[in-house]
Amino acid sequence: MSLVLDPAAQDLLFREARTANTFTDEPVTEEQVQAIYDLVKYGPTAFNQTPLRVVLVRSAEARERLVPLMAEGNQAKTATAPLVAILAADNEFHEELPKLFPAFPQAKDAFFAERPARESAAAMNAALQAAYFIVGVRAAGLAAGPMTGFDFAGVQKEFLDDDHTPLMIVNIGKPGDDAWYPRSPRLAYDEVVTTV
Ligand SMILES: Cc1cc2nc3c(=O)[nH]c(=O)nc-3n(C[C@H](O)[C@H](O)[C@H](O)COP(=O)(O)O)c2cc1C
Repeated sequence: MSLVLDPAAQDLLFREARTANTFTDEPVTEEQVQAIYDLVKYGPTAFNQTPLRVVLVRSAEARERLVPLMAEGNQAKTATAPLVAILAADNEFHEELPKLFPAFPQAKDAFFAERPARESAAAMNAALQAAYFIVGVRAAGLAAGPMTGFDFAGVQKEFLDDDHTPLMIVNIGKPGDDAWYPRSPRLAYDEVVTTV
């Protein structure tokens, strides 16, 4: 009663959405990924810094380089998902800040002149955007399988560069047979929220 979002959308995005471990072979198109991005790009980040960068692993050759870098339990699903996305944080996001935050273009030099400040901001804000991305995948009627079980240094070396830190890898597609584990419990409101 308190939520204004349509109940079917609530189910699609959260209550019935699950983390998929198997997928059908129905392809995920460029148009779908673009629609997901064009929705979730509006999710908020500090100074609108939007440091998330996405590498779509589409070629068989790239997939062959990625799978051995995944933890053993993540290899089969990463090998067979219709699409795999590497989500990374751009530690040089400040170069775009005068364009992205015209209300205060000095932010680039005032707050992000030093690399450590950029790395911590990029990690936080790209993680936020990764969460928006997962919800966006669900909004497209697809299932996401986010993973942090992989060789971070190896993925950075193979697919990124020194300025881009891997955050997570997401399998994307329609859920296949036996796609999920039993739903795990969530903490109740009173276990999480305090009021002062
Ligand atoms: C950041 C992140 C990293 C995860 N890493 C892995 C992983 O390496 N391997 C795996 O099988 N599942 C991984 N998961 C899946 C979680 O275990 C799963 O999303 C969680 O248990 C909720 O499952 P549900 O959506 O089916 O309720 C990851 C999820 C997130 C969000």
